[in-house]
Amino acid sequence: MRPRAVAVVGVQWGDEGKGKVVDLLSAAADVIVRFQGGNNAGHTLVVDGQRFVLHLVPAGALHAGKTCVIGNGVVIDPAVLLEEITDLRRRGHLQGDDALKVSTQAHLILPYHRLLDRAREARGGPGRLGTTGRGIGPAYEDKMARRGIRVADLMDEATFRERLAYNLDEKGPYVRAALGEEMPSLAALLDQFGGYRERLRPYVINTSRFVDAALTSGRAVLFEGAQGTMLDIDHGTYPYVTSSSTVAGGAAAGAGIAPARIAAVMGISKAYTTRVGEGPFPTELADEVGEKLRHDGEEFGATTGRPRRCGWFDAVIDAEAARLNGLTALAVTKLDVLSGLARIRLCVGYTAGGAPLADLPATPRAWSQVQPVYEEMDGWTGDISKARRLDDLPAAARRYLDRLAELVGVPLALVSIGAGRDETIMLRDPFAG
Ligand code: GDP
Ligand code: IMO
Ligand code: MG
Repeated sequence: MRPRAVAVVGVQWGDEGKGKVVDLLSAAADVIVRFQGGNNAGHTLVVDGQRFVLHLVPAGALHAGKTCVIGNGVVIDPAVLLEEITDLRRRGHLQGDDALKVSTQAHLILPYHRLLDRAREARGGPGRLGTTGRGIGPAYEDKMARRGIRVADLMDEATFRERLAYNLDEKGPYVRAALGEEMPSLAALLDQFGGYRERLRPYVINTSRFVDAALTSGRAVLFEGAQGTMLDIDHGTYPYVTSSSTVAGGAAAGAGIAPARIAAVMGISKAYTTRVGEGPFPTELADEVGEKLRHDGEEFGATTGRPRRCGWFDAVIDAEAARLNGLTALAVTKLDVLSGLARIRLCVGYTAGGAPLADLPATPRAWSQVQPVYEEMDGWTGDISKARRLDDLPAAARRYLDRLAELVGVPLALVSIGAGRDETIMLRDPFAG
């Protein structure tokens, strides 16, 4: 049977090119669903020379006639969402009543979440993670502590006021004493969020039932992950992670559908590795090769503009991600960025204290003792962005891809050789089975 539900996840530390791939695959989908994260994500799409950076709206938004869904697992900053909707509509997208649905159960990011996030980061020390400062962690904290405020709560004025007042009371003393900050007033927040209420209302539904019904009626659903597997709250390089389940398993809980519905999982990996923020990164390069990757790959954050840390491809983390996500297909992006390197390295294992490591390190200290084991291959030169079939690539680039896919243990389904929608070698459509 043809898979009707396909999940797309990042397998590294985010920014693998999920936006580009989801946009491309959306042509064959009816419904595109974000299931976790918030506007810490920045997914870049380049279509007909126009650039779009989406933070909350799924990357299917540029295809007419699709439904984009923001699921229950997402945390929503209403100001960011409304601005994104306005911008997309102004540019001719998200037209019609069914273009966007927002879950009643998604939690809200409030201004005090941003304040807490930034104040904690500003304190520095071991608690500093290099977050995006968007309030993601504090919003998920409140969700788990059962004092969060959901979209449905915002829709009901009395509930919103009651829950907001409780939160301001509860957090005020801590914010003042520990962080030297003042909480925004109840009146100001009621006024601000009251303005969002009616603007959001037309989109708000039970998205779990909507997505489930779409699958039951045979429509194709694409689940768009944010961040990456190594940023997963359980399986990533804790505590240098984000606050949600970024793995494919998170798609079921974060969209409200049964796990067995998801028939295929495509992992997106760069042909090298990048990371933004603090935390372990064994193959990081502090030399001119790292500089070349940052320059040629334009490795600056889509959300914060921060320079991304760059390094060689790491097959250890990609293979771990293949296992955790049950990858059925691999997409390799930004292969073009490696052009011009005489020799290219792939990390095929880790050692610590001279001995091979069988398992991934479990603490930041153990991560810091890891030495990557490299294999070296010949590079290639020239512009490869015009390739549309594997045969169009230089032989050395094909050998590199073959070795990479072999190390990860997942069949290659797509190779991206430029930011544009068409700069893609499509090998296998995940909706085709
Ligand atoms: P995401 O968060 O996973 O969606 O990735 P981002 O959009 O944050 O970062 C990926 C960046 O690389 C974006 O600027 C894309 O436009 C760009 N990009 C995607 N695929 C390719 C590719 O194959 N080659 C090049 N040169 N750029 C790419
Ligand atoms: P996309 O979806 C890359 C990183 C931050 C920081 C850590 C925690 O575009 O791939 P947070 O603000 O989530 O509490 O920050 O996670 N991070 C990302 N890195 N891409 C992302 O999203 C990221 N979202 C969060 O840099 O290290
Ligand atoms: Mg990104």
